[in-house]
Amino acid sequence: MTGLTLFSGAHVIDPANGIDAKLDVLVDGPVIANVAAGIAADDARVVDATGLLLLPGFVDLHAHLREPGFEQKGTIETETAAALRGGFTTICAMPNTDPAPDDASTVEALKGRIGRDAHVRVFPIGCITRERAGLSLAELSELADAGCVAFSDDGHPVTSPRLFRNALAISRSLGIPISEHSDDPALSAGGVAHEGRVSERLGLRGYPAAAEINAVARNIELAEATGARLHLAHLSCARSVALVADARARGLNITSEVTPSHLFLTEDAIAGPGREPAYDTNARINPPLRTEEDRKALLAGINDGTIDAIATDHAPHATEDKLCEFDHAAPGISCFETAAATILTLIDRGELDPAAAWAALTINPVRAFGLQHRVPGLGTLSVGAPADLVLLASSEAWTVDPARFVSRGRNTPLGGITLTGHVRAVMASGKLWEMGANDD
Ligand code: DOR
Repeated sequence: MTGLTLFSGAHVIDPANGIDAKLDVLVDGPVIANVAAGIAADDARVVDATGLLLLPGFVDLHAHLREPGFEQKGTIETETAAALRGGFTTICAMPNTDPAPDDASTVEALKGRIGRDAHVRVFPIGCITRERAGLSLAELSELADAGCVAFSDDGHPVTSPRLFRNALAISRSLGIPISEHSDDPALSAGGVAHEGRVSERLGLRGYPAAAEINAVARNIELAEATGARLHLAHLSCARSVALVADARARGLNITSEVTPSHLFLTEDAIAGPGREPAYDTNARINPPLRTEEDRKALLAGINDGTIDAIATDHAPHATEDKLCEFDHAAPGISCFETAAATILTLIDRGELDPAAAWAALTINPVRAFGLQHRVPGLGTLSVGAPADLVLLASSEAWTVDPARFVSRGRNTPLGGITLTGHVRAVMASGKLWEMGANDD
């Protein structure tokens, strides 16, 4: 038995190499060996990929794995299994864990757990401030040396402009981007839903768009002042997209991301479709789901390349974290296992441009965090690149049943919703996992 696997007859899409054609892909052990029409490999295991899309494995810049500290919500083992099932073969782990990775020894311990339990490649993101408390800087240089690919206090913004400016200046000298949760708590504190029509009708405390927009504007100014690489996490507002477009037009080194949830849903998900408001705590997320106008602007941001990446913000929570009053529910959506299907559904509806969406899940996130310098070829099907790929059945309909998630978090507002498109198989570092038709 050789280590060769031949995926035959797939519709291969490799945005980095401009490939969008019916081709074969040959994998040799842990690397891509060839992408061409009519590859002959007699001694290879053959996977018939006729009728399926084949792409580089998805790369996620924003995931919460919960370990260490919150294993009741998820572990590195359970959440990377969910990532794999969703087609994500590389993920960046946000640091809102306990302990938070704010020095080298915590990152080393985390890497040990990742090496032992992860089903996919995991890059740690280090804290910007000690214990994510926003008061003093974390050991940024140690974190960079320990292998952190970015700095973030995600879940919390760095509210002090001076501290944030200093963090940007240091991150620039280290060549590591900052991924900032842009929020002005002076405006958003206590807010649980987008401040607008739905929050007013349901009597929920509003989280205004201005809380994000103010922070995005401040963060862009400070990135310009320091020349740092700034990545704006989970944008939710039309004005934020306009500010990013303006900054990029001025040549600033700004990248950004949007979640599948904010591309697919609006504030209406909280109220639900019925006459009586559902107060669906599974639709509570920070930043909140916003208006249809915002959703359209986020889609346009992906379609025209203003927003680089689609990042899941996969945020598993325990049942009791959501089975409570709306005001007390933990924010966040378990997203890995529905992300690809929501994107395929938006493509099917003509709302997302497929070329832009696939780039936003593969090569764009790699470039945003400079991951190609850590793993050459990551996010591509180039010869010699890691054998990370995903096979999608693009028109297969299925109904989301959170009880069947492998994630410990069943917290999705998509339960019972029928999506178009399914992950059929995933190869991670040369190891093949087949899901089968309708195996959701
Ligand atoms: O909704 C959210 N959940 N937004 C965040 O920024 C953090 C995340 C979490 O960790 O649960």
